[in-house]
Amino acid sequence: MEQVLAGREVVVSGGTGALGKVVVERLLAAGATCHVPAREAQPVEGGSERLHIVGGVDLSDEAGVDRFYDAIPRLWASVHLAGGFAMAGVTETTRADFVQQLEMNTLTAFLCCRAAVRGMRRAGHGGRIVNVAARPGLEPRRGAGMAAYTASKAAVAALTIALAEELKGGHILVNAIAPSTLDTPANRRAMPGADASQWLSPAAAAETILHLISPANTEVSGAVLPLYARA
Ligand SMILES: NC(=O)c1ccc[n+]([C@@H]2O[C@H](COP(=O)([O-])OP(=O)(O)OC[C@H]3O[C@@H](n4cnc5c(N)ncnc54)[C@H](OP(=O)(O)O)[C@@H]3O)[C@@H](O)[C@H]2O)c1
Repeated sequence: MEQVLAGREVVVSGGTGALGKVVVERLLAAGATCHVPAREAQPVEGGSERLHIVGGVDLSDEAGVDRFYDAIPRLWASVHLAGGFAMAGVTETTRADFVQQLEMNTLTAFLCCRAAVRGMRRAGHGGRIVNVAARPGLEPRRGAGMAAYTASKAAVAALTIALAEELKGGHILVNAIAPSTLDTPANRRAMPGADASQWLSPAAAAETILHLISPANTEVSGAVLPLYARA
């Protein structure tokens, strides 16, 4: 397998989640050293010496995020997969539910982007950032029954584009992916009757992320890529 990320330091937030594990595996295979912040330190079977899982990091905590990034030398790329879904009608969504979605999806992405830009500027060799939005974030008419989630992911898409504009000319490229339903164990459990062959494979999403953060990507910035070619 081509080592396009050999010698490169990469952060993967949410790297212990369903999509995150697949992304980390793919980036390790491409030669990267992966730093994964996690609320709880988790043992990894067959882990690589290039995989560093750092426990005790809540990505909605400003100081904790900054401390985590400050410890990484020569940051090249930062991939922000931390987030989560909530399904609830508007009258069943409390203030706390709404704020929780914004914190989990939007605030974690913002704090990681900010710390990543500082780290990349310290390293002085440019860099790559990838956020994760979601299909309803790009197509809010699909967000019925999940307005809080939809708003939080639309904000991630807007953050990505605005940040790419702000960083233009500085060799830090910022993009996002907008996956449709991913083929994960949690989704299979939640939707037992659904046709999972129409879902997005985490491996395909990982391949797109690898392309966006590789040094070969020199021109794409400010894109929010829809990953729903199947359905
Ligand atoms: N699954 C889908 O169909 C789908 C579709 C479109 C977009 N997405 C997006 O893709 C991303 C990954 O999805 P997934 O299915 O892999 O989700 P997942 O399995 O639930 O993984 C999410 C990860 O984010 C971490 N996380 C969340 N909030 C955090 C915080 N404040 N601090 C530290 N870690 C935090 C979780 O850690 P803990 O284990 O500590 O909770 C977990 O490792 C999410 O942003 C999701 O919204 C998913």
